[in-house]
Amino acid sequence: MSKKYYLTTPIYYPSDNLHIGHTYCTVAADCIKRYKELQGYDVFFTTGSDEHGQKIEEKANELGVSPKEYVDKIVDSIKALWKELDIDYDAFIRSTDPQHEKNVQELFQKLYDKGEIYKDEYEGYYCTPCESFWTEAQLLEGHNCPDCGRETHLQKEESYFFKLSKYGDKLLKYYEDHPEFIEPDSRKHEMVNNFLKEGLDDLSVTRSSFDWGVKVPFDDKHVVYVWIDALSCYLTAIGYGTDEEQFNKYWPADVHLVGKEIIRFHTIIWPALLMALDLPLPEKIFGHGWILFDNDKMSKSKGNVVYPEPIIKLYGVDALKYFLLREFSFGSDGSFNKEKFMNRLNSDLANDLGNLVSRSIAMIEKYNDGYVPEATEKTEFDEDLINVAVSTAQKVDIAMEHFQFSVALEEIWKFVRRCNKYIDETTPWILAKDEANKAKLDTVLYNLAESLRIISILVNPFIVKTSKVIRKSIRVKGEINWEDASKWGLLEAGTKVKLKNVLFPRLKVDEEIEKLNAETEELVKKRNAEKAKWAKKPIVVEEEKKEETSGKEEITIDDFDKLEIKVALVESVEDHPKADRLYLLNLKLGDEKRTIVSNIKDVYTKEELTGRKILVLTNLKPAKFRGIESKGMLLGAEDKDGNFSLATVYEDLPDGSVIS
Ligand code: ME8
Ligand code: MG
Repeated sequence: MSKKYYLTTPIYYPSDNLHIGHTYCTVAADCIKRYKELQGYDVFFTTGSDEHGQKIEEKANELGVSPKEYVDKIVDSIKALWKELDIDYDAFIRSTDPQHEKNVQELFQKLYDKGEIYKDEYEGYYCTPCESFWTEAQLLEGHNCPDCGRETHLQKEESYFFKLSKYGDKLLKYYEDHPEFIEPDSRKHEMVNNFLKEGLDDLSVTRSSFDWGVKVPFDDKHVVYVWIDALSCYLTAIGYGTDEEQFNKYWPADVHLVGKEIIRFHTIIWPALLMALDLPLPEKIFGHGWILFDNDKMSKSKGNVVYPEPIIKLYGVDALKYFLLREFSFGSDGSFNKEKFMNRLNSDLANDLGNLVSRSIAMIEKYNDGYVPEATEKTEFDEDLINVAVSTAQKVDIAMEHFQFSVALEEIWKFVRRCNKYIDETTPWILAKDEANKAKLDTVLYNLAESLRIISILVNPFIVKTSKVIRKSIRVKGEINWEDASKWGLLEAGTKVKLKNVLFPRLKVDEEIEKLNAETEELVKKRNAEKAKWAKKPIVVEEEKKEETSGKEEITIDDFDKLEIKVALVESVEDHPKADRLYLLNLKLGDEKRTIVSNIKDVYTKEELTGRKILVLTNLKPAKFRGIESKGMLLGAEDKDGNFSLATVYEDLPDGSVIS
């Protein structure tokens, strides 16, 4: 019997605007599934949608439809996207599936009966306009809301709590005993240092301020906190509560793949819940990085979103998958850039792989009527080629052990490039000129066809469509398995080869970027039109929203006079000790010194900033950011693509000078 492998992506919030960042995890999971299957594992791959909660309720209200109508529409579009991307999942679990809701209630009851959940009051600072609770440490100066800046008030709300605090030490111990539980390592240190060392608070696990959720079975004023609901999807998907046999076969999960911002939920809350339920813990949580767009977080409001559909339409699904898996290191952040994308397609897919396939097959057609000849006489270049051919799979294995997709692909491409070099070394077109070299030429042609067979296996988990095209063109039939990628000589001589069309055409980068932009615009228009058909209220298009907010009300010179703007010299820059994305800028303004907390880390290095003169709004009410007071605000401008530049003065004025 083959070994099982249970793998999951997160359970996505329903959105009809999934961008290529969202597809990253699913594409990676699909690759792992295919790879493990080739190795003979019995793989189960779960993805799904996380459909409850206040945000969803609000979005549905905005469109004038019920939450259920809303999620039904959106989830259809998510499934369509995964289909387009050829994602081979086994379960798409919806958190609104009745069986899942039943499971959540059962789990909740069980925790309550075991004394793991108790009722208490939740006390926090409540921002009514934002409908959110904050802790004192999160508030801005004057107890103001960190989101909208308005005043909050201390409020008590009845809530159920999970005794998370008692699991802190158990988790630390578990991490120690299972060093591979959290990957990459850096994410584990983050969890230990930022959360576990400080001690955990009990977790509020119900809400009573809205309805759209799973009702607490013994108290229907409350709905279960969405994260409890969402995480349990991993259990429901494999038959928890319905198919004990299947559940016992696949649980615990071998890996949960998740984005780095939700690692905390998966490595603290989730294992604690499982411990409380007496269920085994997953083998591994892997926290992957974010795909940024030109170094900025992708967001609809910044207008820098890259959608998968136009890319698939223009370049095919394999181009997108290849780029995502090859360009970025899975554990770290990476920056998407259209030019980089086109260049990568040109160099790796069109030049290296595409060329190898078309040249090899064209030569077999030209010099041997399209039949793979027998290799009878060796050439001096064979040994090295064959060595690389049969040793690549093992190198891929080492990389895949830690989900280093880009390293795995780099290894495969070393082999692809080795094959191209083999053609240049053996010069079949010269061999073909002399009948005396026929046996050598045959060998070269055989070796190329055999290399293509091996390549078709190696690339299969990553770019399955291309793998199939290559296999078809050299007519290999039957089951494909990973073992055959390390064996030389399996391709039978005498098979007839045929290449239908070019695998990857070369692209003219500038033209293609324009095409891609045009396709994206089309798509956004089409989507809005579709949504308008089922929405019962008019849809506010993003651009209109922007215009509404761009024109501000007229002010008088007295209003302007209220602002104090000064020239400041940046004396030094430090990292914020508690926030990765923030700098502390130590400024000198004439006789005065002050520190400003700022989020321009993505834009400027410390060296670039130190010694510069910049403009600062100095009489802004001070605010605290993660415990450090910021006195004033830097001034700068941002273009529509989100490119930011600090404002400064035209002539070199002494620091402390006042702008008027
Ligand atoms: O967090 N680059 O759902 P979600 C890489 N419902 N990954 C990105 C990304 C980007 N630019 N943007 C988003 C949720 N993602 C919860 C999960 S699981 C029990 C509940 C990733 O739809 C993100 O990191 O907001 C996350 O892993 C996934 O998309 C779904 O995010
Ligand atoms: Mg998210």
